[in-house]
Amino acid sequence: MKIRAAVLEEFGAPLGVQELDLAEPKTGEVLVRLAACGVCHTDLYTASGADPSGYSPTVLGHEGAGVVERVGENVKDLEAGDHVVTLFSPQCRECEHCRDHRTNLCMAIREQQNQGYLPDGTTRLSRDGEPIRHFMGTSTFAENTVMPEIALAKIDPEAPLDRACLFACGLSTGLGAAMNTAKVVGGSTCVVFGAGMVGLGAVAGCRLQGAERIVCVDLSDDRLALARGQGATDTLLGGPEAVQEIVDMTGGLGADYTFEATGNVNVMRQAVESARMGWGLATMCGVAGKGETLDIIPRFLITGRRVAGSSFGGVKGRDQVPQFVDMYLAGDIDVDAFVSHKLTLDDVNRGFELMEAQDGIRSVIDFA
Ligand SMILES: NC(=O)c1ccc[n+]([C@@H]2O[C@H](COP(=O)([O-])OP(=O)(O)OC[C@H]3O[C@@H](n4cnc5c(N)ncnc54)[C@H](O)[C@@H]3O)[C@@H](O)[C@H]2O)c1
Ligand SMILES: [Zn+2]
Ligand SMILES: [Zn+2]
Repeated sequence: MKIRAAVLEEFGAPLGVQELDLAEPKTGEVLVRLAACGVCHTDLYTASGADPSGYSPTVLGHEGAGVVERVGENVKDLEAGDHVVTLFSPQCRECEHCRDHRTNLCMAIREQQNQGYLPDGTTRLSRDGEPIRHFMGTSTFAENTVMPEIALAKIDPEAPLDRACLFACGLSTGLGAAMNTAKVVGGSTCVVFGAGMVGLGAVAGCRLQGAERIVCVDLSDDRLALARGQGATDTLLGGPEAVQEIVDMTGGLGADYTFEATGNVNVMRQAVESARMGWGLATMCGVAGKGETLDIIPRFLITGRRVAGSSFGGVKGRDQVPQFVDMYLAGDIDVDAFVSHKLTLDDVNRGFELMEAQDGIRSVIDFA
């Protein structure tokens, strides 16, 4: 079939919205008609050429939500009409990692996905016979996409898809960091560095876990106001004094749980140093620049602080994304506050501009 999609042709140049061919789903694959897709930093990171593992030509986009149009052979759990959220982090339910509760890092299709291919090593996207690679196994800056069944979460059809799409990446990452990785205990004190999509999700996750005190740290007053809306009890402007200020705010000891959601290694260090002795846990969500390292004074660890990392919030997507969507429908997660701009597919580059200007939390492409 013919589809319109935003193609990354040349790094550093705007995406080109153009007509492509999309082949039918093969075994285990599903054809999805996109309804909405968020524009995320990872798309821009690859488009800019900063991502060392990036490739082109490819169709970007990974925060998609839509409706199943057709399924290929051997698709067991999805059928036409199902509403789905796309998962760059799949869940095959069979590999060693999927069967273990300690991780969400499914190993089923990693290698092919990282290189831009569907699990059988080929692409469904092409242009005049030339293969166009898939991005993050999703390629959702497109009217339709073909994805493996194991990378689609079936959600309640009542959920508006222009909200549900945010659970495809940043929001679930933040929620899951608090709920799965840190497993915040009720009554505790939490600090979240960064109030973008990931940090605000972590604030919401801490609130849902029953944290008593949630301090959010950011450089922007507007974003700190959003953090209050998600349940932050205190806010703080970031900077070199942040650790001391947090220690002072927490009776001289630091927080039970800290979260880093900025991607800045200096802030990661602050997250470690503002966790309390004895049991403080610092969870890293941010993606640092290539070659950057996190400095930790070992004494912080010997005196009982721990450090964890969290990819997609430790969320096993097919199981947990539908649960998050249900929590949203029940009124427990305020997603509306995150959708700052609605765009058409043709405006996708405007989404990047808004992100670079830090204008709003998320721009969402609406395919309706
Ligand atoms: N682990 C994962 O699976 C995963 C998934 C999605 C995104 N990420 C990463 O998470 C990070 C956050 O993503 P996002 O979409 O929320 O980004 P964002 O840019 O919207 O938010 C980052 C926030 O950090 C704030 N900040 C910058 N410097 C600061 C400082 N010194 N002190 C306090 N706050 C500071 C900024 O003002 C901004 O509000 C990025 O590094 C992103 O790549 C990771
Ligand atoms: Zn993303
Ligand atoms: Zn798996």
